[in-house]
Amino acid sequence: MDGLSLHKKIEENTGLLIFGILFVSAIGGLVQLLPVLNQDSLDTATVNSHLYSAVELTGRDIYIREGCHVCHSQQVRPLIAEVERYGPYSRADEFVYDRPFLWGSKRTGPDLHRLGGKFSDDWHRIHLLNPRSVVPNSIMPAYPWLAEREASETGNITAKLSALTVLGHPYTEEDIAGADAALEGMTEMDALIAYLQMLGTSYQGESEL
Ligand code: HEC
Repeated sequence: MDGLSLHKKIEENTGLLIFGILFVSAIGGLVQLLPVLNQDSLDTATVNSHLYSAVELTGRDIYIREGCHVCHSQQVRPLIAEVERYGPYSRADEFVYDRPFLWGSKRTGPDLHRLGGKFSDDWHRIHLLNPRSVVPNSIMPAYPWLAEREASETGNITAKLSALTVLGHPYTEEDIAGADAALEGMTEMDALIAYLQMLGTSYQGESEL
């Protein structure tokens, strides 16, 4: 069979054409995926990796539940403009304990990966209650209910820490036993702010790049 008749045969047979398209796109996918599966940097903890406390992890769950990641990315790219605006670009080992990653690609608001320490807790509180009271033109939604709900009711934090231990996160028995007590008396807003204030702060390298 010459090349032309093979081509004709594929074009005339829908099943074969669909298979051909899937096969060719799969090659592109595998070229991207296979090298990453062999890369240790995403699951080997280093000094830059931070194991979330019970409070921070609860804050992170609230961040996901409220869809903050839909408007905010958490990855500073290695480009001069980004590094000048946000700080050191994100390293793979900073995300070892992120399940799932919240890198995102949509930036309706600014990137939040180097947010920790940029504002005071009070600034965050006022901003979350009504973003317009600190940034007049802000289009970010207000989240007043976070100040009224108790952090301990967000989810079963003890079960969550135990599950993460199975996946290799080094929580000790004391961490797990003390998780509920750590959330005692906290609102969801307190937990969310604790999470926001640690974002990007575990990076130990050079401050500029
Ligand atoms: C509809 C999109 C949208 C959603 C959803 C959203 N934000 Fe924002 N966010 C913005 C925009 C736009 C700004 C810039 C204006 C401002 O500072 O309010 C912003 C700014 C911020 C800032 C200030 C960052 C800086 O460096 O100046 C923080 C912190 C923040 N958002 C946290 C959150 C959190 C936490 C949530 C979820 C509870 C959230 N955002 C949900 C759009 C959004």
